[in-house]
Amino acid sequence: MASFSTIVVLLFSFNIHVIQGYYYDKGTVQTITKCPGYYCGRYQIPGDNETSLWSSCGPCPRGSRVNSTWACSECTSSPTAYDWMYLCFMVVIGLLAQWYSIDMMLPDSQFSWKTFGSHFSALIETCLSACITLLVHEPLGSLQLRSCTVNHLSDWYTILHNPNPNYEEVLHCAQEAVYPLYSIVFVHYGLSVFMLFFIRPWANKAFQNRGHVASRPIYAALYLYPILALIHGIMAGLIYYAFPSIIILLSLMSHAFHFASRTDQSWRALLYETVSCIHNLVVVIGHWVLHGFGLVALTLWLQPESLAVILTLVPLPTFLYIVLSRFTDPGKFHTD
Ligand SMILES: *[C@@H]1O[C@H](CO)[C@@H](O)[C@H](O)[C@H]1NC(C)=O
Ligand SMILES: *[C@@H]1O[C@H](CO)[C@@H](O)[C@H](O)[C@H]1NC(C)=O
Repeated sequence: MASFSTIVVLLFSFNIHVIQGYYYDKGTVQTITKCPGYYCGRYQIPGDNETSLWSSCGPCPRGSRVNSTWACSECTSSPTAYDWMYLCFMVVIGLLAQWYSIDMMLPDSQFSWKTFGSHFSALIETCLSACITLLVHEPLGSLQLRSCTVNHLSDWYTILHNPNPNYEEVLHCAQEAVYPLYSIVFVHYGLSVFMLFFIRPWANKAFQNRGHVASRPIYAALYLYPILALIHGIMAGLIYYAFPSIIILLSLMSHAFHFASRTDQSWRALLYETVSCIHNLVVVIGHWVLHGFGLVALTLWLQPESLAVILTLVPLPTFLYIVLSRFTDPGKFHTD
């Protein structure tokens, strides 16, 4: 009877231990054992050749990520097409913000040779900065990237997933699980500011921009890039998943706005003005490019096999607007 109760007590305490306590080896280990949390792992400590030691549970070194057996394994994949489109989006946002600020800051809103100089300089700076950013990332000296794959939204916010096993101590395992998709954007924005100081004065000299015309866009960019970096720092994960929808929505709205601002809303005039005026043609084709970019990104994310079908939808909003314009013309309701 005594032995039976001992066994019961033993079983009971064993159960308590297993259920309530999360057991893991806290120090370094000879053979790899499990770690708590999603992003804690062990890496091999380089030492003498016979006994290979694994570190205690913690964040993986930069450029590696914990795998299913709690080992930090180096990220060797390259970014997917969707990842590249995300990076493009972040670069283009920086460029568009600069172009917009150049248009806003300059006194004459009309197109001029001088504004073109600033626009062109911003384009060159952004391209140079993007290329240098790719060159200084692994593999060094090539325009390719070595990266970890993005699996979940939480990969962008590892700092929110530090485990607290048994409520004893918090393990700080925050790391860049999406290496280098998060940090590379900061590097690019930083380099863009550097390029701004380096190239813009020469561009201003070449296009003879002086005074406010030369200095205002530079000051604007000095505000814009930190703001963009802050937004990226906080919202990177959300932007990564939402950017196709953001592009499609914005391009549709701006597209409709462009057509709605024409004076003659008959379909003949809409079509004729689109084809005959270079400015209108460029605006419409620019919208098609944006719209197509958003659609491709969305399809790559949701259903990569139906890409070709989806691409035929790119000019659809234009034709719909032109065909349906006579039903939506507010003037019709007054005359009827
Ligand atoms: C480990 O082995 C390499 C060759 O296999 C040898 O050159 C090196 O000295 C060894 N290191 C130690 C710490 O024993
Ligand atoms: C995890 O990474 C370690 C070290 O790179 C490797 O030996 C192991 O096979 C990997 N496990 C899986 C399931 O990929």
